[in-house]
Amino acid sequence: MTEKRENWSARSGFIIAAIGSAVGLGNIWRFPYVAYENGGGAFLIPYLIALLTAGLPLLFLDYAVGHRSTGSPPKAYKQLLKPAEALGWWQVCVCIIIALYYAGVLTWAGSYVYFSVGQVWGSDPEAFFIKQYLQNSSAENFDMTFIGHLFWPLIAVWAVILVILFGGVKKGVELSNKIFMPLLIVLFTILVIQALRLPGAVDGLNAFFTPNWKAMMDYKVWLAAYGHIFFSLSVGFGIMVTYASYLKPKTNLTGAGFIVGFANSSFEILAGIGVFAALGFMAHSAGTTVQDVVSGGIGLAFIAFPKIISSLGAGADLFGILFFTSLFVAGITSMVSILEVPIAAMQDKLKWSRVKAVSIIGGGTGLVSIFLFSTVNAIKLVDIIDHFINNIGIVSGALISIIMVSWFKRSLMTELEMHINGISTIQLGRTWEFTLTIITPVVLLSTLVMTLVALLQKGYGDYSFGLQMWFGWGSIIFCALGALLFSKLNDR
Ligand code: ALA
Repeated sequence: MTEKRENWSARSGFIIAAIGSAVGLGNIWRFPYVAYENGGGAFLIPYLIALLTAGLPLLFLDYAVGHRSTGSPPKAYKQLLKPAEALGWWQVCVCIIIALYYAGVLTWAGSYVYFSVGQVWGSDPEAFFIKQYLQNSSAENFDMTFIGHLFWPLIAVWAVILVILFGGVKKGVELSNKIFMPLLIVLFTILVIQALRLPGAVDGLNAFFTPNWKAMMDYKVWLAAYGHIFFSLSVGFGIMVTYASYLKPKTNLTGAGFIVGFANSSFEILAGIGVFAALGFMAHSAGTTVQDVVSGGIGLAFIAFPKIISSLGAGADLFGILFFTSLFVAGITSMVSILEVPIAAMQDKLKWSRVKAVSIIGGGTGLVSIFLFSTVNAIKLVDIIDHFINNIGIVSGALISIIMVSWFKRSLMTELEMHINGISTIQLGRTWEFTLTIITPVVLLSTLVMTLVALLQKGYGDYSFGLQMWFGWGSIIFCALGALLFSKLNDR
């Protein structure tokens, strides 16, 4: 017998879960760095424009697609246009690939909560992170050397994620968000207030907020803003389609979308303020400028932050615990949303029970993730897979979904708009149609072309051809094959 499809207990449950999905590792370690690299305060303008012209319009599109069909991406897109089921499976596969490394980074955050007590990283956090903790291999290709202290925490993290997912939509996903999101807000607010009280904090804020108008003339700044907004809002890779499919028939969708978008961006800017206040303090203690202490991406959280924490004296343990617990908690709720996509897809397509879908899809993804990220290749794999899957996987999935309704079969856009407007307070109209028909596809198409040209000409980073082929292009091929094969499979 088929299980009944679950719903959120109320619209508020959906909103909390959607915010939980949006606010994740991307907000805490990615945004402050991307913002800084791309003109500091001037980045906030392209960022807000990207939010309004691409993030929110696509969020509404995802909501409409999922809510109207009450289905995960393959089922939802198939209802719009039969061959588009493949697009749904593409997004499902993108989520599986993201889940592999997202769990890896989450595990590091969890371990760093423990390392914060007594600052286990010692006087050289960089050497500790890269050499001692991750034991980064110098081998050109995949190195099978296994690290026990990564393996056990990975198992624990996957166990937590699977327990939440076994609980189902209401008792698992919704409940965990209702516990974790308020906790995150409390922890993060204390953290930011503490950071703002540090000497030198003002210098950090100046570096973050002082506009660099010249940067705004650079197209790369705009690409960075558009590239960031999808990952950050969790749009374009099936999450919001899936989450909206669990809503009851009469739900104010645009109202919810504005709340989610506003909450995500507020959190992101708050994270920027906290991180830069702390960097200001670090520069102040080292007698140098903020520009000299900024380091990117993963390094910002796991190298720069430990340095800051170590210099705090008596408050060091508490500050470290707050920061890494926030990172962990924010990441868990996003991780759950990422895996919910393939799980829901299997329940829809093959009529699997929740337990079966979580065991096979969650368990299978977990095994591969645990295998890959307990080896000495972990940091390289995070970097390579993240680059390919974000810039090609997410962007192309988003682009195709938009082109399908705005260029290919325009009546679909009208149908979806009528669906949303029939149940929402704020009505979608010409502006929504215009952005989805012109601005978003043009920006996404140019981003995609530029990324592909750069990758084909120069490859990514200094990684070997083999690693880029297996894990970078390999991830993209996996999604393409998944899309082809699963869309051919008959529904149960
Ligand atoms: N939206 C999630 C994040 O920012 C995936 O990490």
